[in-house]
Amino acid sequence: MIDQSAAWRELEAHGETMGRCHLRELFAEAPRRGERFTRRAAGLTLDLSKQRWTEETLSRLLALAERAGVPEAIRALLAGERVNVSENRPALHTALRLPVDASLEVDGEDLVPAVQATLSRMDAMVSRFHAGQWRGATGRPIRDVVNLGVGGSDLGPLMVTHALADYRLADVHRVDVHFASTMDGSQLVDYLSRFNPETTLFVLSSKSFTTIDTLSNARTARDWLMARLERQEGVDGDLVMRQHFIGVSASPEKMAEWGIAPANQLEFWEWVGGRYSLWGAIGLPIALVVGMTNFRALLAGAHAMDEHFATAPLADNLPVLLALAGIWNVNFLDIRAHSILPYDGRLEYFAAYLEQLEMESNGKSATHGGRQVNYSTCPVLWGQLGPNAQHAFYQLLHQGTQPVVCDFIAPLRRYDDVADEATREHLKSQHRLTLANCFAQSRLLMLGDEAIDEEGPRPGHKRYRGNQPSTTLLLDRLTPGTLGALIALYEHKVFVQATIWNTNPFDQWGVELGKQIAGETERILASHAGHEAMDASTRALVEAVWRAEAD
Ligand code: F6P
Repeated sequence: MIDQSAAWRELEAHGETMGRCHLRELFAEAPRRGERFTRRAAGLTLDLSKQRWTEETLSRLLALAERAGVPEAIRALLAGERVNVSENRPALHTALRLPVDASLEVDGEDLVPAVQATLSRMDAMVSRFHAGQWRGATGRPIRDVVNLGVGGSDLGPLMVTHALADYRLADVHRVDVHFASTMDGSQLVDYLSRFNPETTLFVLSSKSFTTIDTLSNARTARDWLMARLERQEGVDGDLVMRQHFIGVSASPEKMAEWGIAPANQLEFWEWVGGRYSLWGAIGLPIALVVGMTNFRALLAGAHAMDEHFATAPLADNLPVLLALAGIWNVNFLDIRAHSILPYDGRLEYFAAYLEQLEMESNGKSATHGGRQVNYSTCPVLWGQLGPNAQHAFYQLLHQGTQPVVCDFIAPLRRYDDVADEATREHLKSQHRLTLANCFAQSRLLMLGDEAIDEEGPRPGHKRYRGNQPSTTLLLDRLTPGTLGALIALYEHKVFVQATIWNTNPFDQWGVELGKQIAGETERILASHAGHEAMDASTRALVEAVWRAEAD
């Protein structure tokens, strides 16, 4: 195990010393720290100077990365080797964003033509919607598209469509995109109460096409459409299926079984993990909002980060450095909570997206060889828009007892293109205010009371201990390109950490048993029998449901 290596042991000893350091001393000792720990790539600036580490720490961490085989792992990932060992397949989300003239041969087949063919099919579909030519069964152009999906088939497109709302196409037939993920139907029922069935289309997004959350929403949607449209003259079930449902999946058989018309099936591949899938057909809702040109710019930004990841030396490699900062905090400073704090309302869903990306990928405790690790892996990661979180949980960050590492994320420039001058100036000053808050918070977390010049010590309840590490990530602007690079940065960070922990970031066995037991529980609830073998707590809960149903 990696924790038996000399590199790890030396880091442990070094961590003991560094654990006693305060960030303000590190800054006092090295005034040029800011520059020394800042790197740039693909429109992103990564400032790691507020991490509680020194150049010695970083060189030791780089030695650990070498020892864990990070350079070889990066090469294997990008070459399409079977890095997803438990499922014996590659993890080739990076192939989805290769340029059209690239090639990547895996098992003797170039993947790029198939990837480009899917993009072309998406393009054709999107053009049809934007021309007002995708019509419902009664002939009216589709106006509302509802994505039914969950996890990776929801969070990526949801996050990106919000982040790129400024890029919504104006001069096309308007199509509004909505998302319904929860199996309880809460979001769907709202849409069904408001939308016109004649102009509503559902995209069934599910890599497996077996996810009950999505299929139960899909069944309700299909019944809603059929009940309302089939009674119209000249409309039958086949027509409704053809005009009102698109399927996106890695299983064409299951899409066909469900009744998705062949022309409406967008396929992707088993070698694309669900939480890494927004770059292909699962990104259809994104392309519907921002158009294919912007969608391709998102892919190009991610590809720029892939190139950087593949070629930059480890010491200048943004994903590697971000990963090492995480390893340092979790494994050597014992900081096991991580907060994601974007200072830009457009990134409202970024933390939710990263919660899946990081915790479903790296919330593991078995090594590739099946042994249990005896070191920590993924920290608990959560987040919220920074400005709103300031009024919610920053109290804990500043004065609680838990050490937390924070990622502050913000665009440097915003609102340059607002046409009206007075509004532009107001909005720009709001952006400045937002950046001021972002920088103030990371500084206060770092310095504590000393961030402010005051006479004498503060009383206990007003004391800020400081010494909470953070990372600041600045985007030149939030564009499709920089957003693509930002997402790819975190994807690769996750991979590097998994490589060091010797765990598989591309499977998710930890979600399977819950699904199985939920299925059995549903059968018991529905049949009103068979709960005798359950534990006393669950038995009582089941009986409460039966009593409620009988009322
Ligand atoms: O249950 C977890 C999970 O498999 C995620 O990994 C995935 O993103 C989500 O469910 C949805 O899966 P699918 O796209 O197959 O419906």
